[in-house]
Amino acid sequence: MELFESVPLATLTTLKVGGTASYVALCRKNDDIEAALAFARERGLPWYVLGGGSNVLAPDEGFHGVIVRALFEGMVFRNVDERVEVEVGSGIVWDELVQESVERKLWGLENLAGIPGLVGAAPVQNIGAYGADVSNTIIHVDVFDTSSKKVIRFSKEQCAFSYRDSFFKHNPAFIIISVCFSLSVKDAPHIEYPDILARKGQGSTLTTSKEIAEVIREIRSKKFPDLVLVGTAGSFFKNPIISEETYAALRAAYPELPGFPQAENKTKVKVPLAWILDHILHLRGYTKGLVRLFEKQPLVLVAEHNATATEINSFADEIAAKVKEATGIQIEREVQSL
Ligand code: EPU
Repeated sequence: MELFESVPLATLTTLKVGGTASYVALCRKNDDIEAALAFARERGLPWYVLGGGSNVLAPDEGFHGVIVRALFEGMVFRNVDERVEVEVGSGIVWDELVQESVERKLWGLENLAGIPGLVGAAPVQNIGAYGADVSNTIIHVDVFDTSSKKVIRFSKEQCAFSYRDSFFKHNPAFIIISVCFSLSVKDAPHIEYPDILARKGQGSTLTTSKEIAEVIREIRSKKFPDLVLVGTAGSFFKNPIISEETYAALRAAYPELPGFPQAENKTKVKVPLAWILDHILHLRGYTKGLVRLFEKQPLVLVAEHNATATEINSFADEIAAKVKEATGIQIEREVQSL
């Protein structure tokens, strides 16, 4: 285990705010995790597992404890019948896995190209974009169980995946160390998402997974702020899933409000919060001090250099209150607080 003392949380998270973490433990094998947890226990300190920090809001007061980073390595591809399985360590950069899979002409991860973060965090919030959720390709997840100190394999069903949610999001005692994905060798393009389809008319043939991944990275680069310049965690809130009745009532007032009936429960409708923020509340680019809703995508919160977590929290609460007042919908954050 590699241990660092007094590390600014702003350097560990893409929102780039927050005070200091007392310790950060880099763990590349099970013994490292055991050592990090023993270190915390001996000092009576709490611990918290952080991956790439791309979906976490760190508090200004910092974290008086041990940040555990499970940075397991490895990316092993094997042919299984008509498919390819790949077992990937939690510390591999997500987009490197996507790139390697499309270079190998495999299908399944291309729509998730360009998402920041590490492989170990992907199942936690069941990352998704452009019509794909990572849970579609996961076979199993191996975790270090901090109670029994053993490695346990979770089947896909045990992971209890749903929209931006999983068993792991609510059970931090299980630290993800590797994830196994099932990828297709046969063409399996999913290009029905409007942003992607629009590109087809513009010269892209969208016939290989590599080409789709490239197109998606391009779309993302136009829609998301540059992480080199500002702090962001992508979508700050989840898209709300509301009842058919609530949706019908809102549609009466706003006939163009998009809605997507949920496959798993047809009486529920997912509505794009970006649309509500844009067309009902006119909050595109809304700014308070160093925090704002991105001009090109109001669901994306942007924190300028020197913004604080306190500012972000009150800004986000204000947005949630405005949505509640205008629509009656209680929105939930996608970003997790450390
Ligand atoms: N819209 C507007 N105005 C805008 C932008 C969007 O009205 O300025 C409306 C449009 O109707 C558009 C809809 O909102 O069709 C949805 O927008 P978009 O396609 O940009 O996606 P999103 O619902 O805001 C979700 C994910 C993103 C993912 C994109 C693309 C969540 C919380 N967010 O955003 O994931 O990249 O779809 O698939 O589900 C993330 O989770 O951090 C994330 C970035």
